[in-house]
Amino acid sequence: MDFTHEIEKRKTFAIISHPDAGKTTLTEKLLLFGGAIRQAGTVKGKKGGKFATSDWMKVEQERGISVTSSVMQFDFDGYKINILDTPGHEDFSEDTYRTLMAVDSAVMVIDAAKGIEPQTLKLFKVCRMRGIPIFTFINKLDRVGKEPFELLEEIEETLEIETYPMTWPIGMGPSFFGIINRKDRTINPYREEEKLTLDEDYELKESHPIAEDEAFQTAVDEFMLVEEAGDAFDRDKIATGDLTPVFFGSALSTFGIEEFLDTYVDYAPMPTPRRTKEESQVSPTNEDFSGFIFKIQANMDPRHRDRLAFMRVVSGKFTRGMDVTLARTGRKTKVNRATMFMADDTETVNEAYAGDIIGLYDTGNFQIGDTLYDGQKVDFEDLPQFTPEIFMKVSAKNVMKQKHFYKGIEQLVQEGAIQYYKTVHTNQPILGAVGQLQFEVFEHRMKNEYNTDVIMEPVGKKIARWVENEDAITDAMSTSRSNLVLDRYDNQVFLFENEFAMRWFSEKYPEIKLYTLL
Ligand code: G4P
Repeated sequence: MDFTHEIEKRKTFAIISHPDAGKTTLTEKLLLFGGAIRQAGTVKGKKGGKFATSDWMKVEQERGISVTSSVMQFDFDGYKINILDTPGHEDFSEDTYRTLMAVDSAVMVIDAAKGIEPQTLKLFKVCRMRGIPIFTFINKLDRVGKEPFELLEEIEETLEIETYPMTWPIGMGPSFFGIINRKDRTINPYREEEKLTLDEDYELKESHPIAEDEAFQTAVDEFMLVEEAGDAFDRDKIATGDLTPVFFGSALSTFGIEEFLDTYVDYAPMPTPRRTKEESQVSPTNEDFSGFIFKIQANMDPRHRDRLAFMRVVSGKFTRGMDVTLARTGRKTKVNRATMFMADDTETVNEAYAGDIIGLYDTGNFQIGDTLYDGQKVDFEDLPQFTPEIFMKVSAKNVMKQKHFYKGIEQLVQEGAIQYYKTVHTNQPILGAVGQLQFEVFEHRMKNEYNTDVIMEPVGKKIARWVENEDAITDAMSTSRSNLVLDRYDNQVFLFENEFAMRWFSEKYPEIKLYTLL
């Protein structure tokens, strides 16, 4: 069977931003454009949501943030677009990173007044390292913000990426007049209906009082400069994530969204192949179904211990009720309960293709990184492990509960909720995370799901480095400033107090080759 036409229709992206840059608003407006929702205010953002029934989700409600990454599908111009929302709070977790492994491109929303903010920078860096194409939407042009060139420069420098403005703003804040669309030099005015156009000499074709305006002249001069001296358009560079198309607009006023969507569907990649453990690739057009699990959401309903495993379809066609094999165990299961996520609802999936994200109800069979397939065996390469940055010693409050304690840790670690380390000689468990919230969720779930109170003792922020040549390590190298621990696979890892301690160590022991994970 030929699925090519289905696959070509699909675009799957993660939407990333610093909190308050306008991610929720933009998502909502994209869905409105796609006709997926009828009115604004439907998207469940940080102000609570329909899944907020489970107990540990209260952590998220109380903190007013969205810990979970949600998925939404909508249609636009014949395309099926899957948006994966990522939590943007600084307490985000490894789930956020893993979401990036399930997409083919990323959209970054930047507040024009703030530019690139530190915590989100990490996410963009992961995109850069994985070669994920990035599309940029610079938001809130209806307010006074940084100058467009300053913003572009910031993106170029911090992300080491070329920029290609697809639209160019005329003024900002109270004097925001509109945007010039680079494709056809039309000007879409912010406050008026009729579009204007620039001719080859950058003169207005129509007569309009704005032509005399200073802000307008400046914008046109800047636009000319961008056209003449800016980075050249290069489709291949977009595909490899080396050039980001940039759009200006105001999500709140639904302005600049259409220009964005039109270009996005033209240039965003269709579902891409994924690599297997055997170092071959599975193409999305491969006839046999395959997919991998990148996120598990536990206890959607506390009364039933069910979990929802999020799967990215990599190839073939998924149909409800089909038998699939779990590569890790070789066991077959029938998938009867699967959902697809729509804007304001979930619905049962009958079929899905490469690029789609579906939720599988799970009673504990799946782990993060698992491959499911039909037909010829495939096993996708492991999802990357991320270098944790904060650590906590953990022990059971009640020593009689050791069994529950270790079972809980094992499951939560497998699920990818937290990372497990231990001290070398005393086997004291240490947890590692990329965000503080992961510890809170861990503590909460240990109590609620494994009936175990834990004692957490902060170890603090550390720089974790793995070692290439483990045989060269001696006991003397482990000090309080370069503490040697073991990860869950018994690999040796140094936890350095700070950059200085790491440099000192490398100078003292040049023979030890350190490396970092993503
Ligand atoms: P997030 O998901 O990235 O955290 O941001 P969100 O969309 O929730 O937007 C954060 C705030 O910024 C919201 O205001 C929202 O209305 C506002 N906003 C989003 N896009 C624009 C824009 O283009 N221009 C302007 N001026 N504001 C924008 P809030 O007061 O925090 O929330 P709300 O009470 O309005 O929902």
